[in-house]
Amino acid sequence: MKRYSVVICGGGSTYTPDMIELLCLLQDSFPLRKVTLYDIDADRQAIVGRFGEVMFREYYEGLEFSYTTDKAEAFEDIDFALVQIRAGGMGLRNFDEKIPYRYGRIGQETCGAGGLAYGVRSVPAMIQLVKDIRQYAPDAWIINYANPAAIVAEATKRMFPGDKRLVNICDMPPDVLNHYLPLIGRKRSEFRPVYFGLNHYGWFTRLLDRKTGEDVLPELLSYIVDNYESIHAEFKGRIRGPEDHWAITFLDHLEMIRDFPYSLPNSYNLYYLYPDRTYAHYTPEHTRYDEVIAGREHDVFTWCNEISALGHMKGTKYDLTDKIAAKRSSIRDLGVETVYADNDVHAAYLVELVLSIVNNAYEPTLVMTENNGICPNLDPGMMLEATCLAGAQELMPLAVGEVPAFEKGLLENQYACEKLLVDAILEHSDLKLLQAFTENRLVGDADVAKKIIADFKAANGNEWPEFC
Ligand code: NAD
Ligand code: G6P
Ligand code: MN
Repeated sequence: MKRYSVVICGGGSTYTPDMIELLCLLQDSFPLRKVTLYDIDADRQAIVGRFGEVMFREYYEGLEFSYTTDKAEAFEDIDFALVQIRAGGMGLRNFDEKIPYRYGRIGQETCGAGGLAYGVRSVPAMIQLVKDIRQYAPDAWIINYANPAAIVAEATKRMFPGDKRLVNICDMPPDVLNHYLPLIGRKRSEFRPVYFGLNHYGWFTRLLDRKTGEDVLPELLSYIVDNYESIHAEFKGRIRGPEDHWAITFLDHLEMIRDFPYSLPNSYNLYYLYPDRTYAHYTPEHTRYDEVIAGREHDVFTWCNEISALGHMKGTKYDLTDKIAAKRSSIRDLGVETVYADNDVHAAYLVELVLSIVNNAYEPTLVMTENNGICPNLDPGMMLEATCLAGAQELMPLAVGEVPAFEKGLLENQYACEKLLVDAILEHSDLKLLQAFTENRLVGDADVAKKIIADFKAANGNEWPEFC
């Protein structure tokens, strides 16, 4: 069996430790010879890298592991580049979220003005990264999570036309399924989903049972509507405090399903359809950034530091021997070529796509892909998030059909904004930058857009390109 070589770009990401664990768990179905972490911040990456050394040494026989800031070392001899970089780091995410709040607008990592500012940094960083990877590894698969993925996908489509091994993905749609399917005693791996939208702005329209072909979405939606009060109480009970962002989000999400009970929406639709409500979750002084720093980043790095200080995991409370053994045997018992990773959704979703590619399994996977008739009444160039069958040579999109008036209007507005932003970045056009911010439904006023852009320019310093 072939053994693969993988680089994780953004090695210092808070998501890398879980990905490392998953690679250990899936070593029978996705055997590796080499894993490299690559980052531009050596100190941040070292926290994760030292942890990775311990975990791979104890749980992955014969694997070559290193972490580096050197491009040649990172990108030579790889089969897959898994990308989760954050251009400008968490420090600038803070401004992306806080600055719009100064003007009464939502500040969010990927939606509204904050997402546009992140796009201004992320697009050039991703273009450079893809060029660097392609210099050393022309045939490697590049699978990107870096946000704002809709804008990044629009830019990579233009800059790397015909590159069939460059794919942008998001873990939110599978996460939505993981939240709701258990309500009717089902799970994601049992279905082929039909979905359309821009990234962080989309809808499941059908959930086809792999065995029977039956669409269970109507059953799921009826169940939610019929049992709304008890599900609401259950979701509310999951909220562990005012900083429990995702549990709060899913309570709002449930209410969105009740209001529009004919499809299953992405949770990010909340920002566009309920702007006052989502705005009210935070303040100009306190946004999601603060929660991530005190929560996920603190927890993940504490855990990494503890394990690297111990120098081993076996025999400690971090021992993974049983978990790995259980996973390996359950994979063997399944006796199938592809595996649903069934771990935390972020790493799991990415590795599921990789497994479908290496096994040429044509598993249905949601990725960003050029419309070209998937939804015939939307712009053919739109980078839709839609179901594709993932094979060894390419991802084959499945047709969805005409989009209803409500969704069409929302998506066309958002796509105009995203296209203008990418134009602005590639042409260094300040007019198009102003148009993009003004077009955005969560800004919607040229005077406000001008002030927000001026503040972003000041806060981003050298990270903000010249627009003229
Ligand atoms: P993070 O800030 O914790 O980690 C990102 C890492 O990338 C940092 O270590 C940083 O130094 C590094 N980095 C920045 N620019 C780089 C470059 N040009 N080359 C190499 N490394 C670089 O961020 P995080 O919260 O772990 O998220 C990582 C990324 O994944 C973000 O873009 C986030 O938005 C994205 N994300 C996307 C999805 C999705 O659904 N698409 C899900 C989760 C996270
Ligand atoms: C979801 C989204 C991502 C986003 C992530 C983390 O998974 O799909 O695009 O980056 O959440 O968001 P957070 O606010 O927790 O950092
Ligand atoms: Mn996402």
